Amino acid sequence: MKLWGGRFESGPNEVFERFSGSLHFDKRLIDADCRGSQAFARELCRVGILTLDERDLLIAAFDSIRTEARSPEFFIGADDEDVHTVVIRKLKEKAGVLADKIHTGRSRNEQVSLDSRLWLRETIDSTVQLLTALLESLVKLARQYHGAVIPGYTHTRRAQAVLWPHYILAYFEMFARDRERLLETRKRVNVFPLGSGALAGSGFPFDRDAMARELGFEAITRNSMDVSADRDWAMDFLYAASMTMLHLSRISEDWILYSGEEFQWMELGDGVTSGSSLMPQKKNPDSLELIRGKSGRVFASLTSIYIMMKGLPMTYNRDMQEDKEPLFDAADQLGASLEMMKAVVDSASLKPEIPAAAAEQSWVVATDLAEALARAGTPFHSAHKIAGRLVLASVQAGKKPADWTADELTAFAPEFASDMIRLMHPAEGMKTRELPGGTGPAAVARALDEAEARLTSWRT
Ligand code: ARG
Repeated sequence: MKLWGGRFESGPNEVFERFSGSLHFDKRLIDADCRGSQAFARELCRVGILTLDERDLLIAAFDSIRTEARSPEFFIGADDEDVHTVVIRKLKEKAGVLADKIHTGRSRNEQVSLDSRLWLRETIDSTVQLLTALLESLVKLARQYHGAVIPGYTHTRRAQAVLWPHYILAYFEMFARDRERLLETRKRVNVFPLGSGALAGSGFPFDRDAMARELGFEAITRNSMDVSADRDWAMDFLYAASMTMLHLSRISEDWILYSGEEFQWMELGDGVTSGSSLMPQKKNPDSLELIRGKSGRVFASLTSIYIMMKGLPMTYNRDMQEDKEPLFDAADQLGASLEMMKAVVDSASLKPEIPAAAAEQSWVVATDLAEALARAGTPFHSAHKIAGRLVLASVQAGKKPADWTADELTAFAPEFASDMIRLMHPAEGMKTRELPGGTGPAAVARALDEAEARLTSWRT
């Protein structure tokens, strides 16, 4: 079915119809489309286009369309142009000619904005739930090994020792920002567009605030042309989704390495790994690799809408129908990846002795030594040099930090005091990093408590 045709002498070419139809993907907006139309029917009654009985009849018809549309057969054989059209065809089947009144003073340009915003608002809410659940699992894993010492890296080289929960809480911060970004996006999504007409504002005196309130919107849009031309809210979501996928991809990359034979720090559950069809020994981190892979797909969705929008003249152009597949796909991939990551986190275990030994056997303590010298009065630049020479001498002699004795240390450079020998163990130097945001054990214990308190406040 079409919602237009009077001006045409012949119907659309079959190729064009196939090319331009969007029902096969925008059908997922059907519930939002019906809910929006129910609020609109109430408003049509208030302005005198529908009688009370007509309004109630249409509202009931939309309810039955919503129910029917939940079964997959609903769309079989439907050759309507888009979701808005299939809903009106079904409405006609149920309400007869009365259905012809529903589109009074309304355009699909604003309707598609309303439907997408309703759908996206719910999608953001469920995404935030998934994100919060992941954060809970991460904090649990941080607590489980709260005293574990691991090497922290820069340039993929052992840099300074940190506590395992400190490392995990770094991701907590990233995902917490992602949560904030999603909630900020929700505010911009949650603005009510109906009443804008095709671009110039509707010709009927609708109470836009009343419709907005009925559908749970916080505000109404301020400019009808902006409504028809705008997809910022979709891109805001795609940016928030991309950032979340970026963080998921980076933790995936870490854990692919940490669970491999070269690191051997972590074990991922059998349930989230797969074997090889040829090599019997393999236990591959496919779940994490897929998350990493899907991140690229989500970034591409953001890019795709940017490129589609950048040259469009005011206001609506049919190009904009191309927003939906990237938007839906990104939301699907993000939700699935968050769920997958939580399952991986829940399955993961740390073998704390392995990263602890990696820290002990490397020179992650060098900074602690240099800083101890500086605390005792040696200018930092000289302290850095002395510690550097100590590392060089050790590397040349094949000595690990723990091989040094206090006497050897003070003999190496008079600036060293004999009690500085305790700093040869990475867990010691960490105790100096107790300022907020540092990896000192007390600072990390506080950070863990704070993370838990934040989670609790997000749950209520
Ligand atoms: N299917 C269209 C879309 O997604 C709905 C709006 C149609 N408007 C129009 N002027 N053809 O953008």
